[in-house]
Amino acid sequence: MSLNPEDAVRYDVRGDVAVLTIDFPPVNALGFPMREGMVLRLKQAQEDSAVKAIVVIGANDRFVAGADIREFGKPKQGPELLQIQEMMENSEKPVVCAIDGHALGGGLELALAAPFRVAASRAKIGLPEVNLGLLPGGGGTQRTTRIAGPEIALDLILNGKHISAAKGKELGLIDEVTDGPVLDAAIDFARARATEGGPFPKTVERTDKVQNVDPAIFEKERKAGAKKWQGMVAPFKIVDCIEAACTLGPREGLQFEKEAFKVCLEAPSRAAQVHLFFAERQAAKVNDLPADVKPRPIKKVGIIGAGTMGGGIAMSCVNVGLPVVLLEVKQEAIDAGLSKVQQNYDISVKRGSRSQAQVDKAMGLITPTLDYADFRDCDIVIEAVFENMAVKKEIFAKLDEVCKPGAILATNTSALDIDEIASATKRPEDVIGTHFFSPANVMKLLENVRGSKSSPETIATVMAFGKQIGKVPVLAGNCEGFIGNRMLKAYGTESEHLLEQGATPSSIDNALKAFGFPMGIFLMRDMAGLDVGYRMRQGRIEAGTLDPNSPSYTPLADRIVEAGRLGQKTGAGYYKYDGRDATPDPLVEDMLIKIAQDKGITRREISDEEIVDRILGVMVNEGAKILEEGIAQRASDIDVTYAFGYGFPKYRGGPMFWAQQKGLDKVLEIVRTNHAASGDRWKPAKLLEERAAAGQDWDGKPVAAA
Ligand code: 3HC
Repeated sequence: MSLNPEDAVRYDVRGDVAVLTIDFPPVNALGFPMREGMVLRLKQAQEDSAVKAIVVIGANDRFVAGADIREFGKPKQGPELLQIQEMMENSEKPVVCAIDGHALGGGLELALAAPFRVAASRAKIGLPEVNLGLLPGGGGTQRTTRIAGPEIALDLILNGKHISAAKGKELGLIDEVTDGPVLDAAIDFARARATEGGPFPKTVERTDKVQNVDPAIFEKERKAGAKKWQGMVAPFKIVDCIEAACTLGPREGLQFEKEAFKVCLEAPSRAAQVHLFFAERQAAKVNDLPADVKPRPIKKVGIIGAGTMGGGIAMSCVNVGLPVVLLEVKQEAIDAGLSKVQQNYDISVKRGSRSQAQVDKAMGLITPTLDYADFRDCDIVIEAVFENMAVKKEIFAKLDEVCKPGAILATNTSALDIDEIASATKRPEDVIGTHFFSPANVMKLLENVRGSKSSPETIATVMAFGKQIGKVPVLAGNCEGFIGNRMLKAYGTESEHLLEQGATPSSIDNALKAFGFPMGIFLMRDMAGLDVGYRMRQGRIEAGTLDPNSPSYTPLADRIVEAGRLGQKTGAGYYKYDGRDATPDPLVEDMLIKIAQDKGITRREISDEEIVDRILGVMVNEGAKILEEGIAQRASDIDVTYAFGYGFPKYRGGPMFWAQQKGLDKVLEIVRTNHAASGDRWKPAKLLEERAAAGQDWDGKPVAAA
C-alpha cells in the first residue's frame, strides 16, 4: 500500500510525552513509508523541546508484524531498520514501545532496540522468521540472546514461537505488562523513566547472559536438528548467530547476523516459504463469491462417527471452544471413540502441551449421543463414516429431516461424489465436502469441496469455519479425489510402474525422503494399512470398472495383501517390520521380478533423479489438469494442499511452485518423454503446454517478471 511517511507514522504530544503511532495497514509492516516515517518522527520528537519522553505504538489493533514481506527480493528504498533502532537506542529521551496485539519478527526487533517495552496482557510477541526461511535479521538473534540467554533464544527463534506478554516479562523481553490501556501505561512508564534520567539501557550491550556459555549447547542443537532441517538454510544460520552473540562483541554480532540474513534471503528455500505464506492467505479467498455473501455463524457442531476421523475433528472443534454433539450408532462405539479422544488428550497433558484443566474443559464440550434428533440446533453437521455411498446417502436423508434450516450438511468423504450425496436431501445448496486429514486434530489442511449446487453462503461458511478451528482451508471442485487425492493417485500409480521397471519400495521412498518428504509413499501406505485399498480395488473389479488383466494394472499391492501382509500392523507390507522399524524385504523384490517377467518388462537400474522427476512430473501434470478444469482456483492452492496435507517439503514451496522454479518447459520435457514411453497416463496437460510455450508462470505472467 502506498502511503506518505507522515501518515504512516503519526505524531501527537500527550503532556510532555510524544506519541508516535505507526499506522501502515494491514499489519504495520516495516515497509518503506513506515521506516521513513519513523526516522522523521523520532527526529521531530528529539527536536521538540516540550517533549521529555517518547512512546511508540501501533494502530490497526497491533504493534508491528515484522518486515514487509512484499519487499523481499526487490531493491530496497529508504532508511534501514538499523537506523531507526540506533536512533531509539541512542536517544537522550527515553523511548518506550507500547505493544498491543502482535509484535513479530522485525516488529519485536524494533521494540527490543528501544530501551523499554510495555505490553498489554493480550499481546503476543515472537520471532517467526524461520517459517519464512529467514532468521531475525534486525538484531533479534543478538538482543534476544543477550536479554534472555542462548537456550531461550534457541527455543524461541528456531521454533518461531509466539509467546504471551507475561511470558515475555518472565524472560526479560518485556518490562511491564498491563491489563489496562497500553498507551496510558506506556506514557506513565516513559514519564517515570524521564524523571529518573538516563543513561537508558542498551539491550545489545548486555553481557550477563552470554558469559561462560558452554559451546556444547550449540553442537547439540545442530545435531538434533540436522535431519529435520535438511534442505533448509535458516535454522543452521540461526544457531550460528546465537552462538555468535555469545562469542562476539555487540557490533560484530550484529554484522555476523546481517551477513547470515543475506544468505537466507538469497536461498531458494526463502522464496518457497514466502510463496507459501501468501499462498496460505490467498487459499482462504473464494474467487466467485458475490461481495455481499457472509458466512453463517458456527456455534455448535454435530459429528457423525466417533472413529479416528470423527474424534480428531471433534478435538479440533472443542480445542477452540466449539461445543460438539458426537453421534455413533452403538453405545460401545461412542465409548471407544471418547476414550480414544481422552487418551490423545492425556498424552498432550503428559507432554506438557496442555493443562489438565484445558483438557477437562474440552472433554466437557463433547456431548455423546445415539440420537440424530440431538443435531437439531447444530449449525454444521459433519459426517465422518466409512466410504460407502449408500450409507452416506442414508445419513444425509436423516440429516435433512432433523437439521434446522440453514444448517450446513458436510461430508468428510475423501473421494465420493458430493452431488450424489447432496441428492439424498431436499437442500443440496446446504451440502458440501469438508475433507479433513488424519490425524484431524493435528493436520492443518481442510479441503472443502463444493458441489454443483453448494450455495455461496455454504462455501463461505465452511471456509470461515476452517479458519475458526485453526485449519488452512482450500476450496476444491467435485471430481474423483478432488485436488489432493487425485494427484496422490497419479503419483501412486507412477510409483507402482517404477517398481515394476526396476525400482524398489525403499529406493523410491529414499529418493522422496532425500527430496524432502518426511516419509516415502510405500512406508506411508504400510502405516495406513493395505487392506482398505485392496477391498476397494476388489469391489471395482467385481463391478467391472477395473480390469486386473490390463497391462496398465499394477498388481503388486494385491499380491502383498494376498500374502497376508497388511502393512505395519501385521509386521509386514511393502517392508518387513520389527515394531515400527522398517527394513526392505527381498520377498517383495521377488514378487516384483515375477510380475515384471509375467508382463514382459526388463527390469533396470533406476536413478534417484529419474524417480523424483517422474513422481513430481506426473504430479504437476495432474495438477495442471486440475487447474485447467477449475477444480483448484489457483496453482498456489495446490501448493497449499500438498504442503499442509501431504507432507510436501515447505522449503520447496509445493509441487506447482517447484515446477515453476525448475522451469515449466523442463517439466513439460519430462512429461513428453514419459508420454512417448508410457502413453496415456502421461498425456500432457494443455495448460502446461500453453504456459511453457508462452514462457509464462501458472498465473499467466511472463516468467522473467514472476
Ligand atoms: N508483510 C507484508 N504483508 C503482511 C505481513 C508482512 N510481514 N504480515 C501479514 N501481511 C498481510 C497478509 O498477507 C494479509 O494480506 P491480504 O489481506 O492481502 O491477504 C494481511 O496482511 C493480513 O494478514 P493475515 O491474514 O495473516 O492476518 P491475521 O490477523 O490472521 O494475522 C499476523 C496477523 C499474525 C500478523 C500474520 O499476518 C503473520 O503471522 N504475519 C507474518 C509475521 C512474520 O512472519 N513476521 C516476520 C517477517 S520477516 C522479518 O521480520 C524479517 C526481519 O527479521 C528483518
